[in-house]
Formats: sequence, C-alpha cells, structure tokens
Amino acid sequence: MVKVGIAGATGYTGYELVRILHAHPSAEIAWLTSESFAGKKFSEVFPSPYEGELLRLSDAPLQEADVVFLALPHGASMEAVRRAYDAGALVIDLSADFRLRSAEAYEKWYGVEHTQADLLDQAVYGLPELHRDEIEGARLIANPGCYPTAAILALYPLVHSALLEPPVFVDAKSGVSGAGRKPSLKTLFVEVNENFSAYSVGYRHRHVAEMEQELGLSGPEEILFIPHLLPVSRGILETMVVRVRKRYSASQLRELYLRCYDEAPFVWVLPEGETASLAHVVGTNLCAIGITPVSEENAGVDEFIVTVAIDNLLKGASGQAVQNMNIALGLPEGAGLGVTAR
Ligand SMILES: NC(=O)c1ccc[n+]([C@@H]2O[C@H](COP(=O)([O-])OP(=O)(O)OC[C@H]3O[C@@H](n4cnc5c(N)ncnc54)[C@H](OP(=O)(O)O)[C@@H]3O)[C@@H](O)[C@H]2O)c1
Repeated sequence: MVKVGIAGATGYTGYELVRILHAHPSAEIAWLTSESFAGKKFSEVFPSPYEGELLRLSDAPLQEADVVFLALPHGASMEAVRRAYDAGALVIDLSADFRLRSAEAYEKWYGVEHTQADLLDQAVYGLPELHRDEIEGARLIANPGCYPTAAILALYPLVHSALLEPPVFVDAKSGVSGAGRKPSLKTLFVEVNENFSAYSVGYRHRHVAEMEQELGLSGPEEILFIPHLLPVSRGILETMVVRVRKRYSASQLRELYLRCYDEAPFVWVLPEGETASLAHVVGTNLCAIGITPVSEENAGVDEFIVTVAIDNLLKGASGQAVQNMNIALGLPEGAGLGVTAR
C-alpha cells in the first residue's frame, strides 16, 4: 500500500482527497493536517466515516508518507513542498506555487516572492493529457488550476495541430467551491444565491498565466478569459468561440479531438450535436467537450463553439491529483477515480 499524507485536509479539495484516498485500492492515509482543527478527528469536522486525527502541519511526520498532497493556499505551500520533497516523498501540490515555470512569472501574477525557486525546474505541470511522460517517475507535480484544466483540454487539440487562429475568448463559469472554504463576504449564500456575475474581467485572472504557458498563447490579443461566479456548489463550464485555419465539418473536427485524446481515459468528447454541461461531469473526474460548428455548410466551416465542463474539485483539483499519483507510481491511471469516458 502507498502511504499518503494530506496537508490542508479540512479545505474543499482536502476533503475530496480524503474521500478518494480513503477508498483507493492501493493507498492508505498516514496523516492529515489542519491548523484550525488540529487535535480533532476528521469525522468531527466533516460528515465522514474517516476518523483520522488532524495534526498541525509542523507536527506531520513527513517521512512516513510515500506521497504528500498539499491542498494549501498559494504562498503557504512553497516551504511545505520543500520539506516534503527533502523528506523523500512524491509531492503533489494543488496550489499555484509550482505551476509556472519561472519565478518572475509567478511573482508577476501572484504578487508573492517565490522562496523555493530552485525547485521550479523539478516541477512537472500535472495535466496528464499533455505531460504523461514527464509525470511518470516525477518527484514534484504541480497540479493545474481548475479553470486552466478545462480551457487547456478544450483548446489543446487545435494548438497541437497548429489549427487555432487567435484570439480566443474563454467565457467561464465556476461554482462557489472554487473559492475555497475560508469564509468571505463574496461567497456568502445571500450574495451568491439567485445572483450571477463576472469577476476579474480583462487580462487579470491569475489562471491566464497557466493557459498561456501550456497553449503557447500570449497576451489579451491571443486569449481573453472572462470568469463568472455561478450560484452552484461545484462545476465549471467554459464556452469558447474558436477560429480554425482550415474548413472542417463537425464530424471531422470531432475526429481530430478523438484522435488527440484516444489514450486519455477521462476526456469525454461528446457525440455530435451535444454541448457540455455540469450534469455531464459533477461528481466525476471527467472532462466533457462538445464541438459545434457556428453554422451547417456542406463545405465545412472555420468557426466552432467549443464547450467544456469539469468538476472543479475533481478533474479541476483532487481527482486530477490522484490521477497524477497513479501515473507517477505506475498504478492504473483510473484507480480510485470511478467512471471513465470509455
Ligand atoms: N477549490 C477549488 O476548486 C480548487 C481547484 C484547484 C486548485 N485549488 C487550489 O487548491 C488549494 C486548496 O484549495 P481549497 O479550495 O481546498 O482551499 P480551502 O478550502 O480554503 O482549504 C485550505 C486548507 O489549507 C489549510 N491552511 C490554510 N492556510 C494554511 C497555512 N498557512 N498553513 C497550513 N495550512 C493552511 C486550511 O486549514 P484550516 O483552515 O483547517 O486551518 C485548509 O485545510 C489552493 O491553493 C487552491 O487555489 C482549489
């Protein structure tokens, strides 16, 4: 059995990690951390049958875990990553601290000094559909952000085939758990319920940096990202209008996506005519992608509407983190993760 430690187990992504790993056929939870609930059982904090005791991060026996998951806020993760890495564990960091390749880019977008910049070279961007070979045997995996996971998977087949004609507008909606469990005014029930609003509009949202890095796009002239807060607990839906460099029929472009993801068990290229929705993915590690031409013409078209949906806490965070663990350790990719696309 693989022994795992989970730092930040009382957050939304931490809760999902405990849920998945407690039931994982090849994993055993060695320790969990929380600063606010240290000394309590996990089952006293969440309605869960798992009764493990919560420790402070500084008291976690790092060396007892083969794999350490860090589900901490960005900035708080850096030093913990270093300590877990030095203790010899495979480290899977769910925060943004090791996702960007350069400390300068991190400091520009996050406004925080990177104190462990020498470890950035060791970090693999943990999107299995793009970086499976590097994830196998990696020691430090930077688990992608939720919005970028959806956007990159929706656009990658076009970028990979040199077909994408920028700019691309990504209209994105996320459920409220995307903001984490820490209380804040903007996520109060009364602020969110029966409301719907855009935020961080313009070239502002930090997740743009990951999209640019992984898709080779640059600046608002090439990718414009418009996030919205959706009054549901979980799920992300992104809709984008894409222009391609050749005319394609709907079935031809769908074929291109299917070929690109033929070895990706969690990418679900939807049947022709279907658009992605939260109902396709919530509660699963799937990423559903729908491809619709803007009009029906026999000669094909060069503009498509791509819709993509994920569960932000699963394919957008903890499910993907476990998928990464499975790949890194040579376990079956879908172990512990339930339904696959085929
Ligand atoms: N939510 C999502 O959909 C999502 C998706 C992808 C990635 N992420 C990333 O995953 C990470 C966790 O997100 P989340 O939504 O689970 O956050 P969250 O619900 O706010 O939970 C954060 C966890 O970190 C602990 N923590 C906070 N500050 C800490 C510190 N200084 N030292 C040690 N522990 C600390 C908290 O413990 P106590 O409060 O119990 O002390 C809690 O367990 C973030 O970096 C986030 O950006 C989140």
